[in-house]
Amino acid sequence: MHVLVTGGAGFIGSNFVHQTVRERPDVQVTVLDALTYAGDERSLDPVERKIVFAKGDIADPDIVDSLVKDVDLVVHFAAESHNDNSLHDPWPFLRTNIIGTYQLLEAVRRHDVRFHHISTDEVYGDLELDDPAKFTPETPYNPSSPYSSTKAASDLLVRAWARSFGVRATISNCSNNYGPFQHVEKFIPRQITNVIDGVRPKLYGSGENVRDWIHVEDHNSAVWAIIERGRLGETYLIGADGEENNKTVVEDILEIMGQPADAYDLVSDRPGHDLRYAIDSTKLREELGWAPRYENFRAGLEATVAWYQANEAWWRPQKDATEAKYAQLGR
Ligand code: NAD
Ligand code: TYD
Repeated sequence: MHVLVTGGAGFIGSNFVHQTVRERPDVQVTVLDALTYAGDERSLDPVERKIVFAKGDIADPDIVDSLVKDVDLVVHFAAESHNDNSLHDPWPFLRTNIIGTYQLLEAVRRHDVRFHHISTDEVYGDLELDDPAKFTPETPYNPSSPYSSTKAASDLLVRAWARSFGVRATISNCSNNYGPFQHVEKFIPRQITNVIDGVRPKLYGSGENVRDWIHVEDHNSAVWAIIERGRLGETYLIGADGEENNKTVVEDILEIMGQPADAYDLVSDRPGHDLRYAIDSTKLREELGWAPRYENFRAGLEATVAWYQANEAWWRPQKDATEAKYAQLGR
């Protein structure tokens, strides 16, 4: 099998490529990635001789067609992925997440290639803090931010191309990921690298917002389960029952890194900040027999802290520019 991985130089995509090379040596991997600020070819160094890397834009129909025509499967991770950036400048989100997905859909339609679309639980909007409910595949779409609305738009395009044109597609909507190779703009790496730099972690608002954390390896094992056993045209929600509020996560990071648990600052809140995300992954677990391996969030967080401590050369080049952007936002 030959798979084209879009966004394979990003956080989740590069981990997907590592896992695929490690566990599925019969699968041939080509990566298509534009190497935006969020992509880093060095994330693929450990597998560089085992894959083909193509630098290019998913919104460019020529490069997309030239690669899609030679593969059996496209796994589509490429996206503009950060909410704070989408509030500052939404256009790249429309271009990559909507137009880019459209170009890929047209190419897989032309060449009858199987397509798996990677999406987020943020398309469902948010839940109240004290609500026992979780997102299910039946929850109505209700996105809050430019990021989540463009991801919702891309999901709807995939559904339409599957129904109207018979494109062989599946969709997964996953909760917040953590693990190695995540950009330092995101919550967990930002706080870990701040502490390494002697800077206090920064919590938006009151720190009460809840995210449902899943280790990136568990996300990617679920993606393979869907590719291999998922029903065409279906949506699967991926989550590992990892709800934590942001304050608890920061306290854990501080404790793991030998700092007082209250050594953080509250900063101005993100506009429209979603309160809580929570995934009901019953369909994935019961229909496809998937289960997460990293069920102990604290152990996964310790390993992630150790990874950032050991891999400063990987994240250091991004740190100053990232913090300069946040300084402009007052966060
Ligand atoms: P990321 O920002 O780390 O990586 C995105 C990658 O896409 C980068 O390598 C970037 O260079 C590439 N890219 C961006 N625009 C491109 C374009 N026009 N053409 C080609 N490549 C382009 O993102 P991530 O956190 O790894 O997220 C990957 C996917 O998973 C996204 O679709 C995101 O919506 C989804 N997702 C992320 C999370 C999370 O917690 N990070 C949770 C659920 C779903
Ligand atoms: P983030 O990693 O940006 O993911 P998302 O917005 O997709 O959930 O943020 C995770 C949570 O952490 C979110 O509630 C916003 C919050 N947050 C902070 O409190 N401080 C920070 O410095 C960042 C980047 C995020």
